Amino acid sequence: MLVLGIESSCDETAAAVVRDGREMVSSVISSQIDIHKRFGGVVPELASREHLDKIVPVVEEAFERARVGKEEIDGIAVTAGPGLVGSLLVGVSYAKAMAYALGVPLVGVNHIEGHIYSVVFENPPVEYPAMALIVSGGHTNIFLVPEPGKYRVVARTRDDAAGEAFDKVAKLLGLGYPGGPIIERLAREGDARSVRFSVPRMGDGRPDFSFSGLKTAVSKHVRETGLRPVAGDEAPSQEIKDLAASFQSVVVRSLTGTMERLAEEYRPKTLIVAGGVACNNALREASREAAARLAIPVYFPSPHLSTDNAAMIAAAGTVKLQAGERAGLDLNADVTLRLQNVDVEDDALRRSRVRYRL
Ligand code: KG4
Ligand code: ZN
Repeated sequence: MLVLGIESSCDETAAAVVRDGREMVSSVISSQIDIHKRFGGVVPELASREHLDKIVPVVEEAFERARVGKEEIDGIAVTAGPGLVGSLLVGVSYAKAMAYALGVPLVGVNHIEGHIYSVVFENPPVEYPAMALIVSGGHTNIFLVPEPGKYRVVARTRDDAAGEAFDKVAKLLGLGYPGGPIIERLAREGDARSVRFSVPRMGDGRPDFSFSGLKTAVSKHVRETGLRPVAGDEAPSQEIKDLAASFQSVVVRSLTGTMERLAEEYRPKTLIVAGGVACNNALREASREAAARLAIPVYFPSPHLSTDNAAMIAAAGTVKLQAGERAGLDLNADVTLRLQNVDVEDDALRRSRVRYRL
């Protein structure tokens, strides 16, 4: 089964051709980082315009590189949410038009489910129940996946996503965008024990994450020690490198510590760590150590598949197409699309006044 995947939820326009849900025949990603860089974050209006410009050439290139004709594909999978509405609409509209023109089935895919499927290409098959830590610029969740397609959120962020924290701290230190890779590079030359940040814990004992307090702690440290953020092209000081290492270390401890505790409780057979922040080698190393203690495998996507891409969307979509799922031409972008369909705790959380982001 040959499936075309289309992804445009944030600031990457991507298309991929995937065979049988596991073989990446082609994957093209057009990143908008250079456009948004000078604003220190994604500007939604610019993002949607750029998607409009890039969607046609990116899809064409995915077919060319795959050496596959459009008439050969068996279906189209497109990210339907969550994400930026203007960005999502470009992919969704294009996918609908193409499915109609070619007379092939269409499915909408949840972007987060896509990230979970990003590990299928380069790893042994996932064994269920699995546990997935999805860490990106927009999301930080741990899912229990009892069987394919079933998702239960067992940990969530109460405020910022982990990638967002990397980006905000980098901005604060004058380091540029996106912050994750820059902080990781500086952290390699810094001492992680130089600044003591404690892992944020929830007052109600839930295994949730919180990263906004950490950002405040970094900002307080900068103020109190009179640390000067990096200006222009100057080389970062040792103090900045130490701070980057200390910050990265507490984020990694928070993520992997929680994942390990939840894995001890739920006993999954496979761990999955995916999303843009999964590019981070300190996070990979700590996840491998946790998995070794748990005596289960941990799977990561390669860096190309960690950040936003369309191959993961095609992989997740293939499972749905094979199960007979079809989207109509009324498929719409859903900015707040959720990924949980077993033991949804929303009402309980609302009653106990737990504030969290979608
Ligand atoms: O998955 P992704 O491409 O987009 C979203 O769906 O959000 O993730 C982008 C995020 C950014 O916040 C970026 O700073 C972070 O992933 N990131 C990293 C690293 N590479 C990318 N964070 C930490 N370390 C990295 N090496
Ligand atoms: Zn993503």
